[in-house]
Amino acid sequence: MQTRVLTGITTTGTPHLGNYVGAIRPAVAASRRADVDAFYFMADYHALIKSDNPERIERSRLEIAATWLAAGLDPDRVTFYRQSDIPEIPELTWFLTCVTAKGLLNRAHAYKASVDKNTEAGEDADAGVTAGLYMYPVLMAADILAFNAHKVPVGRDQIQHIEMARDIAQRFNHIYGREFFVLPEVQIEEQVATLPGLDGRKMSKSYDNTIPLFAGGAKHLRETIMRIVTDSRAPGEPKNPDDSALFTIYQAFASADETAAFRQSLLDGIGWGEAKQRLFERIETDVAPMREQYEALIAKPAAIEDILHEGAQKARATATPLLAELREAIGLRSMARIQPSQKAAKATPAKDSKPRFASFRDDEGQFRFRLFATDGEELLLSAPFADPKAAGMLQKRLRTLGGAAADLAADGQGARLSLDGNVVASTPAQADAAARDALLQRLRDTLDQLAAQD
Ligand code: TRP
Repeated sequence: MQTRVLTGITTTGTPHLGNYVGAIRPAVAASRRADVDAFYFMADYHALIKSDNPERIERSRLEIAATWLAAGLDPDRVTFYRQSDIPEIPELTWFLTCVTAKGLLNRAHAYKASVDKNTEAGEDADAGVTAGLYMYPVLMAADILAFNAHKVPVGRDQIQHIEMARDIAQRFNHIYGREFFVLPEVQIEEQVATLPGLDGRKMSKSYDNTIPLFAGGAKHLRETIMRIVTDSRAPGEPKNPDDSALFTIYQAFASADETAAFRQSLLDGIGWGEAKQRLFERIETDVAPMREQYEALIAKPAAIEDILHEGAQKARATATPLLAELREAIGLRSMARIQPSQKAAKATPAKDSKPRFASFRDDEGQFRFRLFATDGEELLLSAPFADPKAAGMLQKRLRTLGGAAADLAADGQGARLSLDGNVVASTPAQADAAARDALLQRLRDTLDQLAAQD
C-alpha cells in the first residue's frame, strides 16, 4: 500500500536556497520512494489571497513550476498540477464551508494575527482582512480532502491548518454519516535544515535576507554569497564554525566528509573571502546542472503548460468521482431518479435528529466518550475512566439528567459538568465568553432532549 503524500506550494515570490533545502529537495526525494504516491501542486488560488498583481502571479507560477521540474520532480511519477486547474477544489471548498464552524476560523493564527495587529493600531478588528484570508484554512482543507491524502508535509507554521482540515473532515463525515474523508496527518521533517539567511536569521523573503536559487545565474549567486555577514576575524585567525551562517549553509549541501574538512579549514583560520568562495563552489556543484534545466524549461512555457495539464487530468481522476459521491451524499442529486410517489418524510432518514454519544479509548488507553448535538457539534468530552462500565453508567445518567438538573459551570473558555461534586465532563474551549455561554445553552437543551427521549 502506498501512502498518499500531498503538499501545496504557494506561488508567490521567487524560490531561494531556503525553499530548496527546506521544501523542494526533501519533497523531490520523498517522491522517488516506492511507498509514496506524491501529489504536489501549486496553490495558485491561495496566492491570490496574498497578491492582486496579475503579472506577479503569472511569473511566479511559471518560475515555481520550472524550479520543481528542474530540481528533479518527475511528472510521470508524481501527480504535479495547479490548484486552479481542478474545479473540484472550489466546489469542495463550498461543501466544507457549510459544515465549518465560524468560530473555528476565528481561531486561525493568520487571521488572528491580522486582528491583533489592527486592534493594537486602534483600527477596526477586521480592517484590510479579506474573506479570502479568513477562508484560507477551508480552501486548504479542500486541497487535501479532495484527494484523501494520508500525509501532508508542511512547515511548523502550517500545523494548525492541518488540524483544522482534520476537524472539518471529521465534522463532514459525522454529519453525513460515513467516512468520506481520510483524516490527514501532518508530517514535519525533523532532520531538514532551516537555512539561515545573509544576516544569520532564518532565510525568508520577509527578512530580505535570501540567496536566490536560480535567479540571476551563477554570477548573482556568487555576489549574494559574498554578502553573508561574518565576524571581523582576519585571515589566519581561527573561526568558530558553530557560530557561522556560512558554515550552516555549507553543511546543508555537503557530505559529512566535506563538512568535516570545511570545519577544519575554519578552525585553521581560512579567510572569510576564501571560505565564501568555497561555499559558492560547493553550492554551484549542485545548482549548476539544475539551473541549466531551469533555463531550458523557462524558455518553453508551453511545454510546462502541457505537463501541468496532464497532471490536472491525473489529479481529477481521483477528485471527480469523489465529488460525485459527495454531491449524492449531501442531496445534490439528479431529480430524474426521484419516484413521483415518494413521500418527503420517507426520503429523509431520522438519523440526524438525535444527539449522539461516541465512545473511544484515549491515548492512555482510558475509556471516554463525547456527546454530540443533533448537527454534530461536540458538546462534551467525558473524564477518562479505567473501567468501560463506569463510562457507560455516566452516559446513562446523562441521558436522564435534563439540563436543569445538571450542574454546569462556566470555566474559562469552556464549561464543566459535575455530578456528586466530581467533574465528570467538560466542553471544548470556545473563542470567547459569548460562544461559551451559547454552547452551555445548547448543552442544557440537548440534555433536556435526551431526558425527554428516554
Ligand atoms: N498554506 C501552505 C503554505 O503556505 C500551502 C498550501 C496550500 C498547502 N494548500 C495546501 C500545503 C495543502 C499543504 C496542503 O505553505
